[in-house]
This record gives sequence, C-alpha cells and structure tokens, in this order.
Amino acid sequence: MKVIVTKNTEELAEQALQVMLDVVKNKPNAVIGLATGSSPVGLYKKMIEDCKNNGTSYANIKSVKECERYTALLNSMPQDIQLLGIGANGHIGFNEPNTPFNSTTHIVELEEGTRRDNARFFASLDEVPTHAITMGISNIMNAKKILVVANGANKAKAVYQMIKGEVSENCPASILQKHNDVVVVVDEAAYSLCK
Ligand code: GLP
Repeated sequence: MKVIVTKNTEELAEQALQVMLDVVKNKPNAVIGLATGSSPVGLYKKMIEDCKNNGTSYANIKSVKECERYTALLNSMPQDIQLLGIGANGHIGFNEPNTPFNSTTHIVELEEGTRRDNARFFASLDEVPTHAITMGISNIMNAKKILVVANGANKAKAVYQMIKGEVSENCPASILQKHNDVVVVVDEAAYSLCK
C-alpha cells in the first residue's frame, strides 16, 4: 500500500488528481468507480479545472452509476403497468422535449418551466434541483401497459400532442401513440383541445 500524506485539503486534492490523471491519460476508456460524500469534492473540482484548462478528455471514460443499475433492474423486471403523469411541455418521467426515443435511464437538465412547475414541492424556486434522474423513454415503452393521468387546463396542449399530435421527439409523450396498450385518464380541462 502506498500512502501519500498531505499538509492540507488543497494538496490532498492535487495529489489525488495526479493519481487519477495517471489512469485517465494512460487509458482513455478507463472505467472509474466514483464516490460520493465531501471527501472527494476537492478532487472533483480539480478534475473539472484540469479538463477545462488542459483538455483532458473524459469522452470515452465510463462510470457505473445508478442509471445503468436502474435500467438493468427494469430489464430484469419489466413493468406490468407504468403510471405516468405528463409535463406541461409534454415530458414523461423527466424526459424533456427532444430526448431521444431510444433513451434509457439518464440524468437530465430540467427546463426552466419544469423547475417552476415543481417549485410548489419546495420552499423556493432556488431549491428545485436543476437536474434529475429519469427512466428513459425506451424504458417506459417497455412496460406492458401504460397508464397516463393528467388534469387541468395547463395540460391541454400536451395532452393534445400526446393523443393527436405528430409523433415527434419534440413531444416525448407523443411516442405513446406507438404503444399498444395505453390508458389515458384525464379531466375535461386537460382534454379540451382534443374535442
Ligand atoms: C413532473 C414529473 C412527472 C410528472 C409531471 C407532471 O415534473 N417528472 O413524472 O408526471 O411532471 O407533474 P404533475 O402531475 O405534478 O403536474
């Protein structure tokens, strides 16, 4: 075992960076197991700085995280029924407009409108996360049956696009037209544009 003793957290992060870079630079498709918690934060900051300043590429680096585990779990136990709401912009799960239809579980950057819509669950808009993990559209489509619930006039446009619009990645929910067992339960306000 090699032990590197450092004077402070700055030096610790710097030393750790050198160890990390030694691997990443010698093997551009390395698999990195990452850690959470506060201890690695200084290293992560250094890795970002180094990536920006020195162009170290992580393009082919792989890390096994929750997303892959979630997709693997879904594949091993396909949903018999998938319950969905729908976002005012037509998102399902947190698959925002223009998410590829073949997406699996992934991290998304939330649209401003989605953050505003979800602000009611938080003390303030600032506290609403900017990113989320969502099952992907193909994970949703794998379900044997899909149940969509939506209510209120603010969902009318999205509901229209889901039921009668063009099937397009502009409206993630529109892909549900291609599934052979979808039940949509809406109120009149949400259905108003479909009449
Ligand atoms: C949220 C969630 C979706 C939900 C949708 C509508 O942002 N990611 O799962 O279906 O947007 O939310 P709500 O039903 O609260 O209007």
